[in-house]
Amino acid sequence: MKKVHVNASCEYDVLIGKNILEDSGKLIGEIFKKGKTAIISDDKVYSIYGETVKNSLCENGFSVETFVFPNGEKSKNISTYTKILEFLAEIGLTRSDFIVALGGGVTGDMVGFAAASYLRGIKFVQIPTTFLAAIDSSVGGKTGVNLDAGKNLVGAFHQPSLVICDTDTFKTLDEKTFADGTAEAIKYGMIKEPELLEKLSGDFDIEEVVEICVKIKRDIVKVDEFEGGVRKLLNFGHTIGHAVEKCSGYSITHGHGVAIGMSIITKATEEFGICDSGMSKSLDGLLEKCGLPSKCPYTADELYKVALSDKKRSGGFITVVLPKVWGECILNTITVEKLLEYIKKGI
Ligand SMILES: NC(=O)c1ccc[n+]([C@@H]2O[C@H](COP(=O)([O-])OP(=O)(O)OC[C@H]3O[C@@H](n4cnc5c(N)ncnc54)[C@H](O)[C@@H]3O)[C@@H](O)[C@H]2O)c1
Ligand SMILES: [Zn+2]
Repeated sequence: MKKVHVNASCEYDVLIGKNILEDSGKLIGEIFKKGKTAIISDDKVYSIYGETVKNSLCENGFSVETFVFPNGEKSKNISTYTKILEFLAEIGLTRSDFIVALGGGVTGDMVGFAAASYLRGIKFVQIPTTFLAAIDSSVGGKTGVNLDAGKNLVGAFHQPSLVICDTDTFKTLDEKTFADGTAEAIKYGMIKEPELLEKLSGDFDIEEVVEICVKIKRDIVKVDEFEGGVRKLLNFGHTIGHAVEKCSGYSITHGHGVAIGMSIITKATEEFGICDSGMSKSLDGLLEKCGLPSKCPYTADELYKVALSDKKRSGGFITVVLPKVWGECILNTITVEKLLEYIKKGI
């Protein structure tokens, strides 16, 4: 089992290994005293892994309640979030208890936000079951839900107390959901580690890739937990990616939206002469190899209209992440009108 230690406003471990779900109760028991807990999960994940985690917690002396909601991005809203809060109150969870988020990024983000706000904040454990959640959403403390107006528009920074990542759980992911994670891994390669891009273009060791990505995120979060500066690099491809997701009514998933967003912004950056020529073609080639799209089904105007509600906008300005060379991106604050130009050039 690999262990990555995160040192943010609170410290915690990210445990990465094969078949460690069975030991989740024991691992959690090492940091929490025996008492009450709630596993919150979506229906699909709970049906495959719920019993394993529940049994492990019970065997290790915890009393466990469960809350299950319908899987998918459409559930990541205020209504499900409220139901989770009412459930926590109903079972009488107190501040000395903790919650377990078992699932992908939707579960982790929403349960993390419930943990951040219930009783003004209680502890929680992330058990990511998607490649994307393992390398990105379960680490770093960004939590939240979507509003009708846009993605992740309400939320809080709230770090987990422990992350348990069993890479064997990825075996039950469909190809598309696995590829969503690869998109975020490509993002890490683009902003920090070009060798990672090479690894991703072939058969890769999943545990090794999870560890590399978590370490990159850990290092960024350590210096900029609340996204005043460098953490914005993690938004590479995301402003346009979120717009793609929103335009599709979330039928295009997060990683696929980000893939299209990375492709558009890289092509535009190349056209503006900021990055080397040829980068866009190579990136699109890698995306295709990994089963990810680069072509956008929407017009520049459609995307722009939606991108204007991005929470990273500040007045008439927005910070975009632009590739410079492989493994290095820069932050550039541009007017929203300029963003339209970027989208038009990159689409
Ligand atoms: N907080 C952050 O820093 C951060 C970073 C990146 C993405 N996100 C968010 O993460 C979300 C996307 O996460 P996601 O792609 O994990 O989506 P998800 O949680 O919706 O999971 C995708 C699908 O896979 C299913 N699933 C999950 N694990 C499974 C398994 N092991 N086997 C079979 N099926 C499984 C789920 O039921 C769901 O249908 C988005 O809402 C995005 O905004 C947050
Ligand atoms: Zn993302």
